[in-house]
Amino acid sequence: MTEGNDERHTVQPQVQLLLDLEHVSKIYGDVHALDDVSLQVNEGQWLAVVGSSGSGKTTLMNILGCMDTPSQGSVRLSGKALEDMSQSQLTDIRKDVIGLVFQKFYLVPHLTALENVMVAQYYHSVVDQDQAMRALERVGLVDRSHHLPSELSGGEQQRVCIARALINEPKLILADEPTGNLDEANEKLVLELFQQLHEQGTTLIVVTHDALVASCAQREIMLSHGQLVGEHWNDDHAHQAYLAAGGRSALADVSGGIPVDLLTEDLPVGFTGSVEEGVPRSISQQ
Ligand SMILES: Nc1ncnc2c1ncn2[C@@H]1O[C@H](COP(=O)(O)OP(=O)(O)O)[C@@H](O)[C@H]1O
Ligand SMILES: [Mg+2]
Repeated sequence: MTEGNDERHTVQPQVQLLLDLEHVSKIYGDVHALDDVSLQVNEGQWLAVVGSSGSGKTTLMNILGCMDTPSQGSVRLSGKALEDMSQSQLTDIRKDVIGLVFQKFYLVPHLTALENVMVAQYYHSVVDQDQAMRALERVGLVDRSHHLPSELSGGEQQRVCIARALINEPKLILADEPTGNLDEANEKLVLELFQQLHEQGTTLIVVTHDALVASCAQREIMLSHGQLVGEHWNDDHAHQAYLAAGGRSALADVSGGIPVDLLTEDLPVGFTGSVEEGVPRSISQQ
């Protein structure tokens, strides 16, 4: 082996930015659902998005998930501007790169839980019933696999959505209130699943009202009236990796370059992040 090869083997893999939003706004009439949001997310990051109802969380997720386009600003995914892509390129990204857990589920009503998961396989590549069943097993739903959505509880439907989102092993999972309808046991199951996906290198962006769910993420950001108003890192190592990838403070633009840490500043009304004493920082410490 040559010296050059040896050197190559010792080089640490460089973490890359996966998402780069520059001055993104979404405007409906006189409502700024998103108002000049600049945000970067590196590959493998686990990010929680918090904020009160109507603060723009779902709008942000829809734009990140290529389900919606900004009124102003730019979104780059792996360095490529989404606004420059054709509809078919965006469809390919939705299919190949992104797994979505919707706040409103969007399950096909006349298909069983298993079939709803298999639909995602069908649009991605090849239908594989055993694999779909294993995805339902990961969310604790094997015994409900042949039931229609109308025969499932809200929490069960939510877990079908999660199985559907992860079935094609997407690089990026966008989850909008994924534990909103779950009891404590199932919330723990989903958090453990997120932990596994995170360890496998999946980038996770999770909208949540739940302080425990937010505290499991490496980083938390807060939206208020469409603007980024808070940021907190729960994981210093992840923060360093983010900075090394060229990531900036989410608040660099909105607070004149002075980062506002959610733990030390007065929090806007509605924030339920990991500010309480005793909230575990990671589910592995529970
Ligand atoms: N399609 C739409 N047309 C008009 N207003 C909208 C639309 N979608 C969202 N909004 C408004 O944008 C704001 C942010 O909404 P949303 O992103 O759903 O907030 P959140 O998910 O944080 O509750 C709200 O004031 C909402 O009423
Ligand atoms: Mg919402």
